[in-house]
Amino acid sequence: MGSGVALFTLSFLLAAHHAHSAIGVNWGTLSFHKLRPSTVVDLLKANKITKVKLFDSNPDALRALMGTGIQVMISIPNELLSTFSSDLFVQQNLSRFMGKGGADIRYVAVGNEPFLTSYGGAYQNYVVPAMVNLQQSLVKANLASYVKLVVPCNADAYESNVPSQGTFRPELTQIMTQLVSFLNSNGSPFVVNIYPFLSLYQNSDFPQDFAFFEGSSHPVLDGPNVYYNAFDGNFDTLVSALAKIGYGQMSIVIGEIGWPTDGAVGANLTAARVFNQGLINHLLSNKGTPLRPGSPPMDVYLFGLLDEGAKSTLPGNFERHWGIFSFDGQAKYRLNLGLGNRGLKNAENVQYLPSRWCVAHPEKDMTQVTDHLRLACSQADCTTLNDGGSCSQLGEKDNISYAFNSYYQLQMQNEKSCDFDGLGMVTFLDPSVGDCRFLVGVTDKSSSASELMARWDIYHICIGLVVWALTRCYIL
Ligand SMILES: *[C@@H]1O[C@H](CO)[C@@H](O)[C@H](O)[C@H]1NC(C)=O
Ligand SMILES: *[C@@H]1O[C@H](CO)[C@@H](O)[C@H](O)[C@H]1NC(C)=O
Ligand SMILES: *[C@@H]1O[C@H](CO)[C@@H](O)[C@H](O)[C@H]1NC(C)=O
Repeated sequence: MGSGVALFTLSFLLAAHHAHSAIGVNWGTLSFHKLRPSTVVDLLKANKITKVKLFDSNPDALRALMGTGIQVMISIPNELLSTFSSDLFVQQNLSRFMGKGGADIRYVAVGNEPFLTSYGGAYQNYVVPAMVNLQQSLVKANLASYVKLVVPCNADAYESNVPSQGTFRPELTQIMTQLVSFLNSNGSPFVVNIYPFLSLYQNSDFPQDFAFFEGSSHPVLDGPNVYYNAFDGNFDTLVSALAKIGYGQMSIVIGEIGWPTDGAVGANLTAARVFNQGLINHLLSNKGTPLRPGSPPMDVYLFGLLDEGAKSTLPGNFERHWGIFSFDGQAKYRLNLGLGNRGLKNAENVQYLPSRWCVAHPEKDMTQVTDHLRLACSQADCTTLNDGGSCSQLGEKDNISYAFNSYYQLQMQNEKSCDFDGLGMVTFLDPSVGDCRFLVGVTDKSSSASELMARWDIYHICIGLVVWALTRCYIL
């Protein structure tokens, strides 16, 4: 009886599990203060995250992922699509890390949003040839049944006013038809990145509540279907576009989705939590969308795991603030990922620099500071100072301090980097104000204190040997 119940529960859980979307994360590394890969992998494990997407095939990250059972998507950057050798890639960047006790690499992303309108077609003709070559190399390496090739597409690859009329952009129709037919014949899903935040950010007429999942006072009517949120509408526009080229049943994975917390009006902790929690609950409810009822996307990778302070701000200052964790692995807000923990768990054993900050000297006149500010903020991250940012309410002098400190931490607290012609000053008192956090950098150097000591000893032994040899010469 007991085991019968257990068995029933087990098969029920398995069945339920099979139907659900799996939640994963994007692990981007464009940060001035990188955590050690092992720290990040421990963070994934502590949060029971079993799927991770990388933007390259960084060997340190892959080594840290070995033996963890975490499923990995690696990527080939757009710039490499025209030049890389698929055989070498499979040997050096893929199979080397796989096998028993290795990294569980399941997907290779060929490019990242290569069809983005703003690239003006620079990459689009390389995608399908690169996939064809890679597929042959995978077959040769006996990995083709295990590792699937995908192409994460931006949502501006398709368009429409209502979901049922979705089509790929006319100039992409031919490439998309080749691509999707290739994906389909190899059992790969279609991967798409969907960002309701960007719709809201780029269009002031976009109804705010339509971006979230809490019901909308502006539902979109599409024949018999009613859409209450931007995500469902966007997803079904893709389903329609796929159907138009003959692949309406293709499985879909969300490669990136999320909400930033800083650097723009509308990018804040509350909005990010409400969006991400709403998304996760929506996915786990298994409701699906009007065109795919009861079948939500297969996998969904949140963007992103950590803030990346070295990203380009071309899209906007929010670009550096997409993490569900700050750059140092600390949870920014309450979030239940639906993976077994109730909330997010912080990174442990983070290696911070000493608790020191660089600030504007309180007794100095700051009229000559402009060039220093420009330099500091062109290299370090000052995006939170701008409109809508968490530090936008600082006064003039605190503004300067913030910029000085960002630069000082970027320079790993090098003493000279806090000089600014005598205008800067190191302090041991945390200058953070309210939500505005003055950071202390972290170091991803794996050198523990004992390793440093060992190196120090070797250094002394070497000096000793040299001195000894010199004295010998002298004596002789
Ligand atoms: C393969 O890995 C190496 C070492 O990390 C990297 O330099 C190279 O760009 C990678 N190749 C591709 C095509 O990603
Ligand atoms: C946070 O962002 C949301 C929408 O993105 C906005 O409605 C709200 O006013 C913002 N909250 C604050 C405190 O700025
Ligand atoms: C602080 O810096 C930001 C960004 O440069 C600027 O918009 C704001 O006006 C500054 N505030 C003061 C009080 O100087």
